[in-house]
Amino acid sequence: MMEAEIGRDLERARALLLAGELVAIPTETVYGLAGNALDTEVVAKIFDAKERPHFDPLIVHIDSVRNLPKCASQLPSWAETLSARFWPGPLTLVLPKRESVPDLTTAGLPTVGLRVPRHPLTIELLKGLPFPLAAPSANPFGYVSPTTPEHVFAQLGHRIKYILDGGACEIGIESTIVGEREGKPVILRLGGTSIEAIQEVLRDFEIVRKGDILAPGMYQSHYAPRVALILGEPEEPQSNYSALRFKEPLPELDLNHQVILSPSGDLHEAAANLFKAMRQLDEMEGIDLIFAELVPDDGLGRAINDRLKRASVLSVEKA
Ligand code: TXA
Ligand code: MG
Repeated sequence: MMEAEIGRDLERARALLLAGELVAIPTETVYGLAGNALDTEVVAKIFDAKERPHFDPLIVHIDSVRNLPKCASQLPSWAETLSARFWPGPLTLVLPKRESVPDLTTAGLPTVGLRVPRHPLTIELLKGLPFPLAAPSANPFGYVSPTTPEHVFAQLGHRIKYILDGGACEIGIESTIVGEREGKPVILRLGGTSIEAIQEVLRDFEIVRKGDILAPGMYQSHYAPRVALILGEPEEPQSNYSALRFKEPLPELDLNHQVILSPSGDLHEAAANLFKAMRQLDEMEGIDLIFAELVPDDGLGRAINDRLKRASVLSVEKA
């Protein structure tokens, strides 16, 4: 059986990618499972390794906005504004695609999701390659995204040869995705770039409403741990309950069964710890139910709450 190596060898990563292999790469949001975005066979390997349905398009990563015209045929003014302000960074723009981008990469859509990631190792890697990298989050389909090389190893280590080690991800949740609907920018997925930050540079945009499936990745049940997660607090503590908390533990539950996202109440810290916390709770012995607390609904808090709601099977009101 294959077993991935974890290392910082850019040359090795480059050689594997040039040979049409997949490499896990660090970004500021989460780790990606990367391969040549322009090669259908390589892209097919990405879908296979993730067991991802072929109707869910991949994000294409480029080293600079200068290379955008190689993948996208238009850069509307809203997209130009956003790329100038937020790239490199946790923002994906959905734009009309060029023919050079295979249909498999975009799941048959006429548009392509593009972003310039903000991680020095990955930027250097991209600069040394003659093609952009398609990279979905490096997790099996439907599971929480990896924010460390070890997370990638635990889930995909038997399917790839190399994991480029860029440390723990700075942001910890996926990029915000913005596309266009009826000539207007629309936020398709909440993520590492907050709505407030976007408001500073764009006046007129929409946010996709709950229930609209505009980005195929917006299924309700996504990013989910295996142990059932519900939003709220237990009415009565049980030894098989755990809790995912924002700042403070629940006094009535065993402290060893609780994970605090940010004791100081910092939403950036909470975002960076979110997926690691879900994994920790998933791996706890003897736990059958996770009670998760929503965080304040502003800034990155909205993206955190979005992930928590998608991960949950239902929510309970505390009696
Ligand atoms: O932060 C991120 O965005 C990470 C890192 C690795 O860059 N990537 C990531 O990829 O989260 P993934 O595949 O897990 O989620 C990408 C989502 C898909 O679910 C898909 O719905 C949406 O991006 N997407 C990609 N291309 C699209 C397109 N042309 N139109 C609409 N949605 C698109
Ligand atoms: Mg994903």
